[in-house]
Amino acid sequence: MNVHEVDDRRAMGYLATKPTIVVTTLHASGIVNAGVFGAYTNLSAEHIGIAVHKESHTYANMRRAGEFVVNVPGADLVKAIAVLADDIPPERSELDEAGLTARPGRQVAAPSIAECVAAVEFRFEQEVPVAGHSFMIGRCVGGWIRKDCLDDDGKINIFAARVFKDFKYPKPLYVLPGEVIEG
Ligand SMILES: Cc1cc2nc3c(=O)[nH]c(=O)nc-3n(C[C@H](O)[C@H](O)[C@H](O)COP(=O)(O)O)c2cc1C
Repeated sequence: MNVHEVDDRRAMGYLATKPTIVVTTLHASGIVNAGVFGAYTNLSAEHIGIAVHKESHTYANMRRAGEFVVNVPGADLVKAIAVLADDIPPERSELDEAGLTARPGRQVAAPSIAECVAAVEFRFEQEVPVAGHSFMIGRCVGGWIRKDCLDDDGKINIFAARVFKDFKYPKPLYVLPGEVIEG
């Protein structure tokens, strides 16, 4: 796949519209874990905050490994979302279960998902506990995007990427961007 790679916070532009994301982390064994997340936001030009359930593998791995990758799936991966959101034991790779391919990390050890349209790498910095979740804050260190999904302003082209949003979670219903209006 023809991708554009960067090693700094410019990769935040690939998350510009906050679509449904898949976070990849490594278990202590080195096996790849993947979880689906919709409750997140950008906190600065280089920081993200994700509300991660404390019982999840993602939470344990973020804290232990101190890093994570935010992958942006296109609409062709919507069926894989259900597999990745399942509670799969740590001895099995969720990527294998979903038929997806690991792409080696650039600045972090955790891989990204090759079939996604973009991936952004983060170092975990701090957490803010909120009820059963923790708001996990990370700093962007780089990432990649498919060249055909990159706009001139360095942000993701959401129409080419066909990103989607989980607007009825926990129902498996997603929306694609419809139109742009000038304000
Ligand atoms: C569309 C969608 C959005 C989700 N958003 C979140 C979320 O924001 N925070 C969260 O803790 N879990 C969320 N989940 C549930 C996790 O994906 C699920 O608990 C998963 O098992 C976590 O994976 P892990 O245990 O491998 O980390 C979401 C699931 C789906 C399908």
